[in-house]
Amino acid sequence: MTPAVYATWSADVLARVESALHEWVPASAPAGLGEAMRYGVLDGGKRLRALLVQAAAQAVGALDSAIGTEAALRAACAVELIHAYSLVHDDMPCMDNDVLRRGKPTVHVQFGEAQAMLAGDAMQALAFEVLTPDEGEGAGVPAALQAHLSRLLARASGQSGMAGGQAIDLASVGHALNEATLRDMHHRKTGALLRASVQMGAACAGLTPHSLAWAPLTAYGHAIGLAFQIVDDVLDATQPSDTLGKTAGKDADANKPTYVSLLGLDGARQEAASLLQQAHDALGQTGLSTAALAPLAALAERIVHRDH
Ligand code: IPE
Ligand code: IPE
Ligand code: MG
Ligand code: MG
Ligand code: MG
Repeated sequence: MTPAVYATWSADVLARVESALHEWVPASAPAGLGEAMRYGVLDGGKRLRALLVQAAAQAVGALDSAIGTEAALRAACAVELIHAYSLVHDDMPCMDNDVLRRGKPTVHVQFGEAQAMLAGDAMQALAFEVLTPDEGEGAGVPAALQAHLSRLLARASGQSGMAGGQAIDLASVGHALNEATLRDMHHRKTGALLRASVQMGAACAGLTPHSLAWAPLTAYGHAIGLAFQIVDDVLDATQPSDTLGKTAGKDADANKPTYVSLLGLDGARQEAASLLQQAHDALGQTGLSTAALAPLAALAERIVHRDH
């Protein structure tokens, strides 16, 4: 996929996801809650998780049907809602205490801590509402697929995934973790949601863990999920705040164990490069065509070679 083809492909996906989120995140939620939710979710972020859902859905042919297309759009929005909620809470004073996110004041700075907590709570619930439309809404996503998508997202978000990883992150401040423990924390707090994005895209074509392409696509998601957080650690230590849209140098200041603190910048970069190779190798095991896999391959490159 040339850079120009990728740019066209991703602009099309982002336009559809942004417009659906504008429609589905209600401005009318009570007592200013809608404003805080929209501030936290809309018009910001790289939307890599949504792009992964769509790329995986396209690779397995889910976008050839109206139902698959509807399910993949809902899955892309749902995973971005969970991600945005995790950022709102991650930035709160009781967690990372950050004031800048996506180039704007964080939600709790703008709207207060209680409203930020509630906005995150409501975004989490909304993600599952978006995945479970009423009968007759849109193209009619079958109940079994709604349940499968909800299960994948719930498992990646909860105690065994993101929330569990965040708990380890907070419990690890000031501790030097060994590589196995650090890897486990990163897989949970960040990798799980990226991996689930790929699985959800695949599920939209009816794939299940019994399908031939499921394990290699999962291996791809596992590798790029960890690579993503390693690169996040590297960028925190190397990029200025205005490039990141968030405060630079926070990990060292807060005494967080990261791939940079454990392996140094070069060691962390080598680890990310080796995971990128693993991701490409996994795509080669799916049995899908190079053309079908092109967006997933391009996203793996982007996740590792990015500046913010
Ligand atoms: C940042 O994620 C938080 C982590 C999980 C490391 P992103 O870098 O994907 O954030 P946005 O969505 O682009 O703002
Ligand atoms: C956050 O990791 C992971 C989440 C689950 C939100 P970080 O704390 O490193 O994310 P940033 O650097 O604040 O975006
Ligand atoms: Mg954090
Ligand atoms: Mg943080
Ligand atoms: Mg970080």
